[in-house]
Amino acid sequence: MAAPERAPGLKYAHIVGWGMAVPERTLTNDDLAAFVDTSDEWIRTRTGIHERRIAGARESTATLGLRAAQAALDLAGMLPGEIDLIVVATSTPDYVFPSTASLIQGWIGATRAGAFDLSAACTGFVYALEMASQAIRAGSIEAALVVGAETMTRVLDWSDRNTCVLFGDGAGAVALRAADRPGGVLACTLGSDGSGADLLAIPNGSSGYDGAAPDGANGFHKLSMDGRGVFRFATRIIGAAVTQALEKAGVDLDEVALIVPHQANQRIIEAAAKQLKVSSERFFSNLASYGNTSAASIPIALCEAVEQGRIRPADKIVLVGFGGGLTWGAAALEWPEELPPEPDRWDQRRRGVIYTLARLRSRLMRQWWRVQVWLAGGAAWFEPAPPESQPQPNRLQRFWRRLRRRPPQK
Ligand code: ACO
Repeated sequence: MAAPERAPGLKYAHIVGWGMAVPERTLTNDDLAAFVDTSDEWIRTRTGIHERRIAGARESTATLGLRAAQAALDLAGMLPGEIDLIVVATSTPDYVFPSTASLIQGWIGATRAGAFDLSAACTGFVYALEMASQAIRAGSIEAALVVGAETMTRVLDWSDRNTCVLFGDGAGAVALRAADRPGGVLACTLGSDGSGADLLAIPNGSSGYDGAAPDGANGFHKLSMDGRGVFRFATRIIGAAVTQALEKAGVDLDEVALIVPHQANQRIIEAAAKQLKVSSERFFSNLASYGNTSAASIPIALCEAVEQGRIRPADKIVLVGFGGGLTWGAAALEWPEELPPEPDRWDQRRRGVIYTLARLRSRLMRQWWRVQVWLAGGAAWFEPAPPESQPQPNRLQRFWRRLRRRPPQK
């Protein structure tokens, strides 16, 4: 199949780095069966999931996203100051605002980057990749960081066996850079059908929607799902989305080395393989280890596929996602011909110093904002969760913080 003609001067968005981060704590199916009416056998046979990762008390979507982002930048040899745009796909941001992307931007010191979060549930990473690569193709930016990060286990009803066995936490990221030579993100297709909105939802209640208990006591702020409905939708849409993206890219399915699908259910992956008439071996699956990490699942799977040698230089691959909205999307990619060189020890040290200085700058700037607000007669109470590497404040520091937070006397 011939690739469509491109207008002269348009750039290609190449993937130059990738990275992932998952919490250390593992929750196995047997662990779950100790407090929910389920069994390892049911979960394995119906979903393919064996265990999932659970964020610790000092981890959040932003801190996991930060670790994945740094790993992608380190591999790409890209400095934070080179990034023009950071997009974080998430359904579980630390805050409605500031965006997770802005927190990461501040922590890594990407001082010239624009940053925003994008909400398209489990399809979010494909949407974010398309937004960033379009900006590169149009020539408006040179380099971007695309992150998928989630702490799904914080929005689960742990007494609902229909949903709590399915999800886990984690983050993955890719670094994109503009280049004249063909390759990188070849084509994407995106779709949405809001008539299926009720099939998968996390009611928020902050926009005046009736019935929300602020503490989530009546099920608000928790994930609800019609599993069978989503299953039917997913098995139908994956094949169609893959075919559409490949047609747009001018690539034959036979040329595709690997399809990296959203990791929701092994049976969904096998049904999609059947529909496309390809062996399920050509679909990558790691959901046994992580469950469904929503917008993080595709970039995590991508990193592990590279790690396991399932993606080689210059391979054509397809990413395909589906999820709440309903939304779906697929991206046809050409993997870089040359893998980035391993960062040497000196480079790692240099980057470590840059990140430490960036964090210091971020903290100093935060204090500077406080001083400005204080001088103007107001008070700033907001304190974003610090990266997990930061030690807990001691008693004296906590006292000093409380003192500083007190609004000035009129
Ligand atoms: N343990 C034991 N039994 C269970 C469990 C469990 N964890 N969960 C459900 N069951 C029971 C049900 O109660 C039901 O019992 P009943 O027949 O007595 O009523 C029985 O198992 C069968 O239930 P089904 O819903 O028919 O099970 P199914 O085979 O459809 O599998 C599943 C359910 C795994 C949820 C499947 O439908 C699925 O994977 N759907 C897609 C979900 C998905 O992909 N969601 C994420 C989308 S991405 C995003 O945007 C977040």
